[in-house]
Amino acid sequence: TTVEWEAESYDMGGHDTYMHKEIHEQVDAVDRVLRGRIDDRFSTVHLGGLNLDAREARGVRRVKILGCGSAYHTGLIGAQLIEELARIPADAEPASEFRYRNPVVDPDTLYLAVSQSGETYDTLAAVQELKRKGARVLGVVNVVGSAIARETDGGVYVHAGPEVCVVSTKCFTNTAVAFALLALHLGRIRDLSVADGKRIIAGLRKLPEQIAEVLRGEEEIKKLAAEYANAKSMMFVGRVRGYPVAREASLKLKEVSYVHAEAYPASELKHGPLALIEPEVPTVAVLPDDDLLEKNRATLEEIKARSGRILAVAHREQEKADHTIVVPRNEVELDPILMGIPLQLLAYHTALALGRDIDKPRNLAKSVTVE
Ligand code: AGP
Repeated sequence: TTVEWEAESYDMGGHDTYMHKEIHEQVDAVDRVLRGRIDDRFSTVHLGGLNLDAREARGVRRVKILGCGSAYHTGLIGAQLIEELARIPADAEPASEFRYRNPVVDPDTLYLAVSQSGETYDTLAAVQELKRKGARVLGVVNVVGSAIARETDGGVYVHAGPEVCVVSTKCFTNTAVAFALLALHLGRIRDLSVADGKRIIAGLRKLPEQIAEVLRGEEEIKKLAAEYANAKSMMFVGRVRGYPVAREASLKLKEVSYVHAEAYPASELKHGPLALIEPEVPTVAVLPDDDLLEKNRATLEEIKARSGRILAVAHREQEKADHTIVVPRNEVELDPILMGIPLQLLAYHTALALGRDIDKPRNLAKSVTVE
C-alpha cells in the first residue's frame, strides 16, 4: 500500500526529466525534513514518531543500519553521524546480506531499516527476521504508510516527497539529513554538549541555501561532465566522511549513464586499484576540509604520478587536481550531505551527454519488491 501524494507533485514543472526536477527540489525537500523538528531551547530535535524514550535511547549499545543501494549508502553516512554525535558504535550493512547470513541479533542493538519506497523486499525481509527474533527495529523511510513503515516499531519519516526517477537524488539527501537529526537527538540524550548541539543545528539550518548555491554551479558541472563522459571507467575515492559520498556517486554514475565506475576508500588505492589508473580512467576525489585533507592530497599525488586525471570535490581549489568543484563549508559532520549534490549533477549531465534514458535506466526498477 502506498499513500498517494498530491497530483501537482508529479508535474514536471518545466524540467525535461524527473531526475533534474528532483535534484533541484532538494532545497525545499531539506527544508521540509527539518521543519518543526528543531528544539532551540534544548539544542536538540524532536522526532515525533520515533517511539524510543530517553531511557531506552540511553540503553542502546550499538546501532545497525540496513538498506539496499542508495539507502545502504545513506546508512553509511548515518552510522558515521551516530558514532560522531552520539558516540554509539554504529555500522551499516546491505539488508540482503544481513538477512542471509543468520545474524546475531542483540537485544541492546537498535536496528534501523532505511528505504525510500518502504517496499524493498530484502529490507522488509530483514525487518521481519529481526522482529521475529525480538529486536527493536525503527524505520528511516520516505513513503508514509509503506510496508516497512508499518512493520517497524516507529522511526523517522524522510519527507522528500515523491521521487519518480529510478535514480535516487532528493531522497538520498533527505535521508542523510534525517540521520543527522536522529544522531543529534541521540547525542543530546547522551553526551553531546549544548554547544555542539547548537553548532549542528546552525549547520543544518544553512543546508537549504548551501544546496541552492551548489545547484547554481550546474553550468560548470555540465561542462565537466562533457569532458569526462568518454572515460573508459571512473574511480571514486574518499576517506571516512568522503567515502560514502564516493560510493553513492559511483552508483549514481553507473545507474544513469552506464559508465563503469568503482569506489574505494582513498587509503585502499595503493592496495590494488591504483593499477587501473591511466589517463582514460579519471578519478573523482571527495576531499572535505577536515583533519584528513593532507592525507587526501597525498592520494592525489599518487594518482598524478600515474598520469591519472583528477576531478576534486572540495572546499577549496586543489592544485593537484585537473578540476575542482568547490562546495560551501558547513560543520564537518555534515560534509557528506552537501558534497554528494554536485556529483548527482555530474551523473545527470554525463547521462544527458551520452543520450541515456535518464528517468528509466535500462534493467532497473524504482523499487525491487521481489527477492
Ligand atoms: C537508487 O538510485 C537506486 N535505484 C537503488 O539503489 C535504491 O536505492 C534501492 O533499490 C533501495 O530502494 P528503497 O530505498 O526504495 O528501499
